[in-house]
Amino acid sequence: MKTALITGVTGQDGSFLAEFLLEKGYDVHGTIRRSSVDYRERIAHLEGRPHFHLHYAHLGDSMSLIQVIGRVRPDEIYNLAAQSHVQVSFDSPEFTADVDATGVLRILEAVRQCGLASTCKIYQASTSELYGKVEEVPQNENTPFHPYSPYAIAKQYGHWIVKEYREAYNMFCCSGILFNHESERRGETFVTRKITLAAARIAQGKQEKLYLGNLSSLRDWGYAKDYVECMWLILQNKTPEDFVIATGEQHSVREFCQLAFHYAGIELEFVGEGENEKGIDKATGKVLVEVSPDFYRPTDVVNLWGDPSKAKAELGWNPTKTSFEELVRIMVDSDMAKVAVEKAGEHIRMNLAEYLEKGIVK
Ligand code: NAP
Ligand code: GDD
Repeated sequence: MKTALITGVTGQDGSFLAEFLLEKGYDVHGTIRRSSVDYRERIAHLEGRPHFHLHYAHLGDSMSLIQVIGRVRPDEIYNLAAQSHVQVSFDSPEFTADVDATGVLRILEAVRQCGLASTCKIYQASTSELYGKVEEVPQNENTPFHPYSPYAIAKQYGHWIVKEYREAYNMFCCSGILFNHESERRGETFVTRKITLAAARIAQGKQEKLYLGNLSSLRDWGYAKDYVECMWLILQNKTPEDFVIATGEQHSVREFCQLAFHYAGIELEFVGEGENEKGIDKATGKVLVEVSPDFYRPTDVVNLWGDPSKAKAELGWNPTKTSFEELVRIMVDSDMAKVAVEKAGEHIRMNLAEYLEKGIVK
């Protein structure tokens, strides 16, 4: 039985990867952070299952990492833990650098110090944000990086230190350069989930309006459940190499919004430009979507589009297993069901859009 350690197991990807590896017959260990609230929504269904174990560790704390890696002695480590929100990285740049850059170094060194450098394979969660202010479209493994946020710059360090340890110490460590991937488990302040939740609440009369930032931003959105398979495939490859993981299809935030509202039963029409653009319900003429500059970023990445040819050819991975339409449908259906049992005003954690709407923050 192989042993895997997943940092960030409570996140969107960590929870799907844990399920995937348990199905493959792995003994799965995950790291969690101490928090005052102990309910871990995305992995609650796995807790207590045989071969699923949790350990406290923090990417800012080398001792905790050395302890857990030394105790578990994993065959494979998936380093998914990160401060993963690009906009938040502008407010917390130092914390983001500590976790997303130096944190990767701490994992690599912990593996060496535990004497596992020649046996333990390491997957690093790199990102399409490295292409940032893009220098070509679509982007592949040879496209130059131009990171464009504190998050991306921290992740670029993580990417290069993994490459360095591979070459300097002959370690099997590699990065998946993953483009945006979403799901019904996506954090509620990422744009796709913010939209599907709002579409469901608006359709059920529990929210008036949705406020968004740059509607023209373009992304290559895939389904997270399909992408975790690729993380595993990258570590099963004969040689340690980096791969772009993407669908090869691009859509705007506006298109995502229109389709999500359509699946929630509302036909939206966008009129106007820039800050004055509005999404209007064709049936009632009501304005349901407005632009708020509060969601603009100091520097925004606006043209991500991946070329997954290498992963397709060398790993046999299918980038179009779940289509864009299916992805949006999965997310809307899930949020329609979630919102249906949510009493008005009951949501404990209101997202920023709702705060804005209620005039609490402006
Ligand atoms: P996510 O849902 O935000 O999950 C992040 C995980 O990291 C959570 O389990 C979180 O724990 C943990 N974490 C955060 N700071 C930590 C720290 N200092 N020490 C230990 N754990 C910490 O992110 P995701 O969407 O699953 O993404 C997984 C990874 O892939 C991240 O590294 C992200 O940057 C990268 N990535 C994501 C995408 C995407 O589109 N989803 C694309 C490319 C790359 P808590 O639950 O306690 O907060
Ligand atoms: N979050 C958010 N909220 N984004 C908005 C909004 C809004 O109200 N309105 C427009 N956007 C735009 C952002 O400006 C950005 O251009 C795009 O929508 C996507 O934003 P996010 O969903 O927050 O994701 P991201 O692309 O910045 O980052 C995600 O994908 C990266 C891979 O490319 C995260 O998962 C990162 O961790 C990941 O590395």
